[in-house]
Amino acid sequence: MIDDIEKIAVEITQYDISTVANLENFRIHYLGSKGIIKSLYSALKDVPNEKKREVGQQINTLKDKIEIKFNNQKEIFENLEESHTIIDLSRPPQDETIGSRHPLSLVRAEIIDIFSRIGFSISEGPEIEDDWHNFSALNFPPEHPARDMQDTFFIEKNENEIALRTHTSSVQVRVMENSTPPIRTISPGRVYRNEAISARAHCFFHQVEGLYIDKNVSFADLKQTLLYFAKELFGDKAQIRLRPSYFPFTEPSAEVDISCSICNSRGCNVCKYTGWLEILGCGMVDPNVLKSCGIDPNEYTGYAFGMGIERIAQLKYKVNDLRLYSENDIRFLKQFTSGF
Ligand code: PHE
Repeated sequence: MIDDIEKIAVEITQYDISTVANLENFRIHYLGSKGIIKSLYSALKDVPNEKKREVGQQINTLKDKIEIKFNNQKEIFENLEESHTIIDLSRPPQDETIGSRHPLSLVRAEIIDIFSRIGFSISEGPEIEDDWHNFSALNFPPEHPARDMQDTFFIEKNENEIALRTHTSSVQVRVMENSTPPIRTISPGRVYRNEAISARAHCFFHQVEGLYIDKNVSFADLKQTLLYFAKELFGDKAQIRLRPSYFPFTEPSAEVDISCSICNSRGCNVCKYTGWLEILGCGMVDPNVLKSCGIDPNEYTGYAFGMGIERIAQLKYKVNDLRLYSENDIRFLKQFTSGF
C-alpha cells in the first residue's frame, strides 16, 4: 500500500490542471466521495494493526499535497477571472472627461501674454501685507480718508497694521525697492476688500497692475500702451477714452473706458447706453511714491495702471454675476475654452 501511495504522489505532481475543467476532474478523481483518498482510507482497515499508524499518516500527507495543489490552482483561476472582468477589451470606450481652465486664469494668461510681448516682466508678492507696502509707500497719508477707498481686512491692528492686500500695487512697491530703473513689470494676483458679496462685488477679486519707470516716460506713452492693450484684447476696432480721476499714488490720474464691444458703441444695457465701459485706473507715478521706494524723481518718471480680471472676463465672456467665478459649478466652468 505504501508503494501505491508513493506512486499516487508522483502522479499528482505530473497531473495537468491547466484548465478549469481539468481542475474539477482532478478534484473528483482524488478528493471526491468515490475518489482515491476515500478508497485509501477505506483500505486502511485491511492494514495490519502495527502498520496502521504509519500508513494512515502517509495518506494524510498525500491528502494535504492534493489539497494544496488544488487550492493553489483554484486561486490562480479566480484571480484570472477577476482581472478579465476589470479589463474587458471588448467594451466600447468611455468618453474621457477633460477639464477646462478657469475663465479668470484664461483672461489673466491673455493679459500677461499681451504685456509680455512689449517687454513687461511678471512680478508677484505676498497676499498678507504690511501698511508700508499696501498704503504708506503709495502716498496714502496716515488717517487719510483715501484709505477708506479700499475697505481693508486687517489682521493686526498694531504699528505695522498687517492686512490682506487691497491691490497689487503693493508688489510694485517691492519691485521698486529692490531694483533700479528701467522697470517694466506687471503684477497679477488676488486682492481682498471688505465688501458685501453680491452680483457686482465680492470680498476678493483679481488684478493685474502695471508699472513702467524710466527716463522721460510720459503720459503719451501710457495712453499708447493702453490703446495697444485694448486692441489686442478686444480687437482692432477697440477705442479708449481717459477721464480725470484720483488715486493717492498717481498724479495726474485717469479712469480708462473702452468702447463697448457688446453693442459696438451703439448703446446697450451693459454700457448703460453710453457706448463706453470702464476697465482700468491709471496715472503717472506720484514723485512721493518714487522717493519712498528709493528712486530719484528728478531723474525718473513712470506710469502705472491697474485693472480687475473679473471685470475684463465679464466683458469678454458676458458673465453678469461675480459670484459665479468662485462657486465651482462645473456647468459654468466647462463653457470656457481658449488658446491660452
Ligand atoms: N491700485 C488701484 C486700485 O486697486 C488701481 C491703479 C493702479 C490705479 C495704478 C492707478 C494706477 O484700484
